[in-house]
Amino acid sequence: MANTAMAETRDFRWWERGIIYQIYPRSFLDSNSDGIGDLPGIQSKLDYLQWLGVDAIWISPIFTSPMADFGYDISNYTDIDPVFGTLKDFDALVTDAHRRGLKVLLDYVPNHTSDQHPWFLESRSSRHNGKRGWYLWRDAKPDGSPPNNWLATFGGPAWQWDEQTGQYYYHAFLKEQPDLDWRNPEVQQAMLDVMRFWLDRGVDGFRVDVMHHMLKDRDLRDNPRNPDWRPGLNPYRELLATHTVDLPEVQEIVAKMRAVLEEYRDRMMVGEIYLPVERIMAYYGASGEGAHLPFNFQLIGLAWNARDIAAAVERYEALLPSFGWPNWVLGNHDRPRIATRVGTAQARVAAMMLLTLRGTPTMYYGDEIGMHNVPIPADKVQDPFEKNVPGLGLGRDPERSPMQWDSSAHAGFTCSTPWLPIAEDFTDINVAAARSDPASILSLYKRLIEIRRAETALSVGDFAHLPAGDDLMAYVRKAGDRRILVVLNLGNNRRRFNLGELACSCRLLLSTHLDRSPIVLENDVALRPDEGLLIELI
Ligand code: GLC
Repeated sequence: MANTAMAETRDFRWWERGIIYQIYPRSFLDSNSDGIGDLPGIQSKLDYLQWLGVDAIWISPIFTSPMADFGYDISNYTDIDPVFGTLKDFDALVTDAHRRGLKVLLDYVPNHTSDQHPWFLESRSSRHNGKRGWYLWRDAKPDGSPPNNWLATFGGPAWQWDEQTGQYYYHAFLKEQPDLDWRNPEVQQAMLDVMRFWLDRGVDGFRVDVMHHMLKDRDLRDNPRNPDWRPGLNPYRELLATHTVDLPEVQEIVAKMRAVLEEYRDRMMVGEIYLPVERIMAYYGASGEGAHLPFNFQLIGLAWNARDIAAAVERYEALLPSFGWPNWVLGNHDRPRIATRVGTAQARVAAMMLLTLRGTPTMYYGDEIGMHNVPIPADKVQDPFEKNVPGLGLGRDPERSPMQWDSSAHAGFTCSTPWLPIAEDFTDINVAAARSDPASILSLYKRLIEIRRAETALSVGDFAHLPAGDDLMAYVRKAGDRRILVVLNLGNNRRRFNLGELACSCRLLLSTHLDRSPIVLENDVALRPDEGLLIELI
């Protein structure tokens, strides 16, 4: 049994107990009828988030940006893009959120700026400019080709030729997103000050964009070929990112960010890191001086079956350092929505899993009402990834469609034309309809959140996996004498789970179908297809 007796012996911080809710600001609520969501829109929906019961919001980038990558290309780190509002709107949002006990996390994008950022404009103005060394400029090979074979995540080579100064610059993503050189102390100073700017303004922490990308091989060695790559797969995967991500020295930078957070009280950072789970652990820092939470994306990547997921959960629990707090995620603005990936029925099981595994859950806006990926016709594509590498299903617009608030025009998201199409089924799937349906997935999320809040066993309790049959996953969460059993049917057949070996009486607390009464269970329990159960062990 892993992680025993922890729940009773220490205090837990808000980001350990709490639930994070990710808002993609362009798509949450448009308050000024330009078809794009904004900060006053978010503020007007704090009531809803409070009703839902989440603890913190993470808002994807809202800073000044030419929007080549929809805000992940920043041209001023310390101001708000007019499309989202003003600093005044931001302050009002934070004040209102805090008044309601909601924390606010911002997206910190340290790896790259916009090519329109004044730092880059200076840097590219001349080889002798003081900011030349803020970015990664390199000479061409003698034949004029790029310095090495490195590829950009969004297609093509990672090196962009600059005619005026006769050198290439490196960009891990779009050519409009030049990478900063984090080995340069001036860059470090300036970027750590960006954190302080927002921390001084009262934010509770950051989600840190592509934390594992911040340093690249000094010697610019070629990346090796990926033997598993085939034509038709993501072209970026043709090479292994051996020399461009996850360099050991990156931990020193992460620790510097952490040190900035430690200058303030009770702030946190969660790192976006797409790496195998063993490598993610390093991002906690060798003795906890790294990220508070390195995102754990396993539930996004794994095939949806009980055996693989149960094994992954156990492995993750076993790999966690003693000081490392776990976390779980079902989806985000870069990955297909959970309801599309696993289906509407299993999305409810996924919700129960997310909110009962040990660790901080991060929810993605709209998943709580069962929003699906929205197919985007070619002439409506916005995402630069889809534009650069079309037709491979890599585009991220489908999971970024506007939030469906009600059945009025444009789903109550905007009064004008939304920046991305709204799901056709919005008249059925929307917050208003789901709130008035006691059996909706939204009612399930709300109930799960309530129970999680009320039950220390679920929010911070110990975790122990139980053997279960085909399609089933079972585990017990425990704090003090309180034990809660979770049994999830990840398949669409009826299954039985044996309670006999638990040597206690069992009372049903909740079914994902929201249609069972709190009865005492004997010997075993039948799970319907796509059903999850919470059971009190008394
Ligand atoms: C992260 C973001 C993604 C963005 C990329 C480049 O992966 O989540 O949306 O495009 O970084 O900043």
